[in-house]
Amino acid sequence: MAVGIFDSGLGGLTVRDAIARRLPDLPLVYLGDNAHAPYGVRDAEDIFTLTCAGVERLWDEGCDLVILACNTASAAALRRMQENWVPDNKRVLGVFVPLIEALTERQWGDNSPPREVDVKHVALFATPATVASRAFQRELAFRAIGVDVEAQPCGGLVDAIEGGDRLLAEALVRSHVEALLRRMPRPEAAILGCTHYPLLEEVFQDALGPDVRVFSQASLVAESLADYLQRRPEMLGPGTDSAFLTTAAPDQVSRMAAGFLHRVIAFRAA
Ligand code: DGL
Repeated sequence: MAVGIFDSGLGGLTVRDAIARRLPDLPLVYLGDNAHAPYGVRDAEDIFTLTCAGVERLWDEGCDLVILACNTASAAALRRMQENWVPDNKRVLGVFVPLIEALTERQWGDNSPPREVDVKHVALFATPATVASRAFQRELAFRAIGVDVEAQPCGGLVDAIEGGDRLLAEALVRSHVEALLRRMPRPEAAILGCTHYPLLEEVFQDALGPDVRVFSQASLVAESLADYLQRRPEMLGPGTDSAFLTTAAPDQVSRMAAGFLHRVIAFRAA
């Protein structure tokens, strides 16, 4: 009854941790495509091909349901995968929709027409590929009207986080926030639209100031998965064991993961 979690690298571990806290008995198979990370600077075709390969690998592990714990893959590839590629007996879910439902105060599956919501000015921080896809704005437009979104592509940030360079990562967050605030001086909410960014949530909050509500995905995705599995228990695949897989050298990725989450995680080759 395992569920698969896919990310380009280590960022999805923030989502995996939140899911493990919310659903402690559920086996989770994590796959990081570290050999090809970061995805945020790749084009949509490339991201589609790599994401499909990763998802197929997780299906082979007995995970009929795969969560794309990666905004870049969710933004650039998910819609195309769901429309033309995912077979009827499998599911691939992304991380955007739970976030937008929280922002627009909607319950799951509320398909009523878009309506006015309290937040009017939203700052989006994400990878260059996610920003270029405009997927966030598209999903938001299905649910809310009159919301102004200003998006900041946070070039270099994923590399700095995965490389364990905390000082550089903090400096990049502050300069990306400053750049955004020049274009939108008073956002009411900020979306951390990359699964790596929760690791720097307090730096984002500090740079944005106390009046900005920062939305970060991990716990929202965990809650929405728990809800989904209650409604669709048949999507729990036949897999039985948790695992951490990577497409890069497992020893090196395990070391990076320890620096990233400050605990030992043993990756094996995908
Ligand atoms: N952590 C991923 C995301 O949520 C991707 C980062 C990357 O590979 O550029 O977008």
